[in-house]
Amino acid sequence: MGELDPRTSCPKCGGLLSVEIELPRERGAAMRALFDARLGATRTAGRVDIHNSGVWRFRELVLPGIDDEDLVTQWEGNTPLLTRERVARWAEVPELLLKHEGHNPTGSFKDRGMTVAVSNAVRIGASAVSCASTGNTSASLAAYAALAGLPAIVLVPAGQVALGKLAQTLAYGARTLLVRGDFDDCLHLARQSSERLGVYLANSINPFRILGQTTIVLELLQQLDWRAPDWIVFPAGNLGNTAAFGAALRLARETGLVDSVPRLAAVQAEGAAPFARSFRSGFAEREKVRAETVATAIKIGDPASYERGVRAIRETNGIVLEVSDAEILEAKAVVDASGVGCEPASAASVAGARRLARDGTIRRGARVVAVLTGHILKDPGILLDYHKDASKPFANSPIEIEAELGAVEQVLADATSGPTR
Ligand code: F0G
Repeated sequence: MGELDPRTSCPKCGGLLSVEIELPRERGAAMRALFDARLGATRTAGRVDIHNSGVWRFRELVLPGIDDEDLVTQWEGNTPLLTRERVARWAEVPELLLKHEGHNPTGSFKDRGMTVAVSNAVRIGASAVSCASTGNTSASLAAYAALAGLPAIVLVPAGQVALGKLAQTLAYGARTLLVRGDFDDCLHLARQSSERLGVYLANSINPFRILGQTTIVLELLQQLDWRAPDWIVFPAGNLGNTAAFGAALRLARETGLVDSVPRLAAVQAEGAAPFARSFRSGFAEREKVRAETVATAIKIGDPASYERGVRAIRETNGIVLEVSDAEILEAKAVVDASGVGCEPASAASVAGARRLARDGTIRRGARVVAVLTGHILKDPGILLDYHKDASKPFANSPIEIEAELGAVEQVLADATSGPTR
């Protein structure tokens, strides 16, 4: 099937499609130099340089064939790689780095895939775009569709989407359908509507999304001066990112960008861990569950990119593990209190890193990148619930006072004499 075909799965076997790109001739040092020279690119021929985008900077490895005129971009990517002593200490991983994808334009890593998928929708002349989502994909698609001037229809599970994500999706102007069902039902419906009604499907089963998401890894390798870390730890739901990270490492090795690759650790929430279960049986069975977790972003029971996920884990000698909701919330409180902040699903990566450090899988001295996939303000409801509950280990309850200086003085005295949280 050609690159301009709008379908995302094979009409004969139903399997997912991938895009094969022709790799450039420059490899290794020449390719590194090309990508490095684009850092800080500003204006070319009077226009903002497209290479300012942390996705299109790597265009030779993303979608070389597309014209600049078709690109729907808002300079996504370029997210920081942070160190936070306090988070590293909690995770028991001294060399911990945080790749904060919450710094993307709509507050999650989804923008990296969406710039590619929506650009492709424009290129093939799609009349409408659609997706199923736990909230971030819908917010991102809504924004990029608005940029492209395309109508967007999104399907989300009613009552199960974090407030910030739902608010964004509405505000960017997507038709938002609250489906009485879970994410897996929404995806089923979205696939049907794409096949029968012809809307362009922008879920991560769309191979163009995966191409864009490879740049999370390409960018972090560049930030590390093209020296691979020992591990990349990240939350896993529908397994789009797992697939993308595997593809990115394959590309990076094939093109000589790096000479070694990290191991991948995909982290699921205990109540939504079908992939972790399959991993434990050596991927003998494809498991499905009815998902339940506070991390609504990854509340997924039947991940669509299962086969690609398996390949990524196998190729990188990776592992899949699960952490409890309590561990996710504790990790999140630590990340938040360090001034960085992230949404609940993102904190699964830090909680996962701690598990792996404690059981000796991650050795002391190993360099570990934990990917924070979404912004702290995506899920304000969970933040307030946590901090108003004084029994939580890192709760910071608000203090109501009379409008008197004495009350402020008292709080200040407590704050400066007590231990820092
Ligand atoms: N972290 C966040 C914040 C997410 O929103 C998602 C997925 C993941 C991790 C997991 O990534 O699905 O590629 O394994 N969110 C999708 C959505 C499902 O609809 O926004 P994955």
